[in-house]
Amino acid sequence: MTLSNTAPIPELYVSPESAQKLKHEAGNLPSWDLTPRQVCDLELLMNGGFFPLKGFQSEADYNGTVENMRTADGTLWPIPVTLDVSEKFAETVAPGQDIALRDQEGVILAILSITDKWTPNKANEAEKVFGADDLAHPAVNYLHNVAGPVYLGGPITGIQQPVHYDFRARRDTPNELRAFFRKMGWRRIVAFQTRNPLHRAHQELTFRAAKEAEANLLIHPVVGMTKPGDVDHFTRVRCYEAVLDQYPASTTHLSLLNLAMRMGGPREALWHAIIRKNHGLTHFIVGRDHAGPGKNSQGKDFYDPYAAQTLVAEHQKEIGIEMVDFKQMVYVQEKAQYYPVDEVPEGSTVLDISGTELRRRLREGLEIPDWFSFPQVVQELRRTSPPRSKQGFTVFFTGLSGSGKSTIANALMVKLMEMGGRPVTLLDGDVVRKHLSSELGFSKEHRDINIRRIGYVASEITKNGGIAICAPIAPYTATRRAVREMIEAFGAFIEVHVATSIEECERRDRKGLYKLAREGKIKEFTGISDPYEAPTKAELVVDTEGTDVDYCAQQVILKLESMGLIKA
Ligand code: PPS
Repeated sequence: MTLSNTAPIPELYVSPESAQKLKHEAGNLPSWDLTPRQVCDLELLMNGGFFPLKGFQSEADYNGTVENMRTADGTLWPIPVTLDVSEKFAETVAPGQDIALRDQEGVILAILSITDKWTPNKANEAEKVFGADDLAHPAVNYLHNVAGPVYLGGPITGIQQPVHYDFRARRDTPNELRAFFRKMGWRRIVAFQTRNPLHRAHQELTFRAAKEAEANLLIHPVVGMTKPGDVDHFTRVRCYEAVLDQYPASTTHLSLLNLAMRMGGPREALWHAIIRKNHGLTHFIVGRDHAGPGKNSQGKDFYDPYAAQTLVAEHQKEIGIEMVDFKQMVYVQEKAQYYPVDEVPEGSTVLDISGTELRRRLREGLEIPDWFSFPQVVQELRRTSPPRSKQGFTVFFTGLSGSGKSTIANALMVKLMEMGGRPVTLLDGDVVRKHLSSELGFSKEHRDINIRRIGYVASEITKNGGIAICAPIAPYTATRRAVREMIEAFGAFIEVHVATSIEECERRDRKGLYKLAREGKIKEFTGISDPYEAPTKAELVVDTEGTDVDYCAQQVILKLESMGLIKA
């Protein structure tokens, strides 16, 4: 008898011979270049990870998913899997048409037979799926500020898997894992989902879970997309590999999952359970705050930390996977052992280091105690995140034209060069417009492209250990946030609002542009005929009215010092 968790699962790929032919034919179809998130989704659609979905969701399936976590035929499916595209592309295609889906190098991965095209109500999607239409939620921000405005739905014909050059031996499709379990004779397997490096608490939790479920253990980390600011997956996989010998090889397996997480808490936990069921798992660990997105814009948690466990418990039978739930694991000093927080012996000393505290310790080069993690993991983390004083960073000035951004930026550059140690690059608004963006004007679209280019260059500088000083107007909050995310993947981002008032800028009118703007001779002029969305969460606000440039630059230096970015 073949047990259901080891039997092959349907995939959406055609045979290699048909794939070759299809690929050839698809060259003539309209084509869509997939975003990184869409490549992740497509991979799991094609390899059965998202079974029983047969393609990007239709409008009816999407509506059902959003409203009651079920597709139109009643199948449990809690997270929308949709193909978002630009308005411009959407105008060129219609239901009944096939389009080629290409990866970022232009390789055709699949064909989508469009059945549906619609404009979703994104605010409703955010409310229903993620619990709040709040941009502090990474998926809500993605929905409004990254995803295209139109969705296309329809079945997929899979041509080839997305290519991965990294950790190939550690990536498994659902069928490869099922075959592995068959070969090993594993019948009960518990999956541990993670987007973080493994520390001792996780090891204890996974040991306990395997023991409790009397099951083999699959460490199944997400390497597709996780929360912005997470430890990158290259570092994490090296960390996982470093601690693998702490686990019994005959009962534990490590496999990488190319999922693009949404940080959707309870709904996402349910989704993870379905995905694990598809990968042949029989048990699934749900801990505290599973797939939690952090705090909302009011500083409160988006979800109750144990809501994910409640929701998975309600649906585990229907999915056909058993949840192994755990409370938070904490270290009990007197026992020199980890315990679930609700089993801690009374009167004992509990030690814990939060993710935020760990990042602070790494940033500042402080000791990370042995009870918390494994020396190999700490060494690996330190290798990729040296103390802040040795990392690159970006100072991003924003403010109205004539507010004094360039002058302060220049003063700051000179002060930093005087200190030495790291190369400094100034990406001033005017200079960028001359060298990087000479073809661009001042429409919203062009300003966005301009700022994203600056962000891209600054993120490369930051990644390579240098200091980037940017001084564009950067009038839009969403674009500044996108730049922040690009840079924070590699180092600190310090947003400095040069808060000179419009009246003062106009009074100074150093370039004579305000006068021209008032006369209507310059269109879309920031502060006059185009908006400036002032930052609400800048790291620093400087006021140039009544303060000299040198003092403003000093304030930035002090801020950098307090953040540990420059040391005496
Ligand atoms: S943006 O919005 O961030 O892309 O603008 P930025 O590249 O920083 O703009 C640089 C300078 O362009 C001049 N200029 C205008 N500014 C605003 N609106 C309009 N329509 C415009 N047309 C030209 C202006 O002098 C900016 O200079 P700064 O350095 O900010 O004074």
